[in-house]
Amino acid sequence: MLILITGGSGFVGWNAVRYFVGRGQDVVATFHTFPHYLHKVAGCRPIPLDFAERDAIDQVVARFQPDIIIHTAALARPQEISSADLLTLVNVDATGHLARAAAERDIPFLFLSTDLVFPSNAGLCTESSPTAPSGAGGYADSKLAAEDAVRAAGGRWIIIRPTLMFGNGTPRSNSFSQFLDRKWHSGQRAPLFTDQFRSFLYVGDLITAIERVAIEQPVANEIFLCGGDERLSRAEFGLRYADACGVDRAMCNPMRADELPGYAGGGSDITLDCSKLRATGWRPRGIAEAFDVMLRERDDNWVVG
Ligand SMILES: NC(=O)c1ccc[n+]([C@@H]2O[C@H](COP(=O)([O-])OP(=O)(O)OC[C@H]3O[C@@H](n4cnc5c(N)ncnc54)[C@H](OP(=O)(O)O)[C@@H]3O)[C@@H](O)[C@H]2O)c1
Repeated sequence: MLILITGGSGFVGWNAVRYFVGRGQDVVATFHTFPHYLHKVAGCRPIPLDFAERDAIDQVVARFQPDIIIHTAALARPQEISSADLLTLVNVDATGHLARAAAERDIPFLFLSTDLVFPSNAGLCTESSPTAPSGAGGYADSKLAAEDAVRAAGGRWIIIRPTLMFGNGTPRSNSFSQFLDRKWHSGQRAPLFTDQFRSFLYVGDLITAIERVAIEQPVANEIFLCGGDERLSRAEFGLRYADACGVDRAMCNPMRADELPGYAGGGSDITLDCSKLRATGWRPRGIAEAFDVMLRERDDNWVVG
């Protein structure tokens, strides 16, 4: 099977590339600004691709004729998004274009959305809870619009809405645990909100969820929520991560979101009921077990750069 993974240089994509190559799959992985060591993964073919260019998208699909597309590429860092037009072009229009290309070839198209499609104080959510993105500089709106574009494309689409993720990655990874690592390694205390609650998800568990619903037990035209078992505030997560890493708890700076100068978002509470995904047999690791895996991988020099 040839898997096309878009955003292979990103946090999720990089983990997905390594996992699927390790499972013996043939992987083509796209990057935009920097390949982030994709060229060092035996069995992976790194390909530059800018999702602002439709012809380039068509050329990659026509050239490699994938059996499945796992679409992780996105402008996924709300704090770094400078242009609403580019956000729409990359996150919405390009996603719809790629989904149509998959539909024309009758291959599965797996799209990563976000739990931020729910209102900020939604509480416990299921797949049928009402969506109403808020804040985050248009990022969450773009992901919900992209979901609409994927469904409109027809074909065999699957949408997974993961929550806030942690795990190892490249030096630039969009991982909450690496945000903490970077703060601590530079000697700074990490601001950790006490009033933002999520079902923190280990990135490796997202990858096994993708494998389950797209490859092992393929479904079509379904949405899944994907989160861990524990509802934690960012502060609770940070303290547990500090303990696991042997970092002094004083390096955590618990505060309300409105106490961080310049931060536009407020408190939030989005917890995911993942019964639908669990019904497939998928299970997330506990937080402690995920930390063990991450730290072991580092001992094995897994983290690059
Ligand atoms: N991280 C989380 O906690 C989280 C939570 C919920 C949902 N998600 C979703 O999961 C997916 C993956 O997120 P992530 O954390 O892996 O993000 P990330 O680390 O920021 O990676 C984003 C990827 O998209 C690529 N990309 C950005 N602009 C592009 C463009 N114009 N053309 C082609 N590729 C482009 C980047 O390429 P370069 O690096 O080469 O520029 C990178 O490979 C996203 O859809 C995101 O919305 C993430």
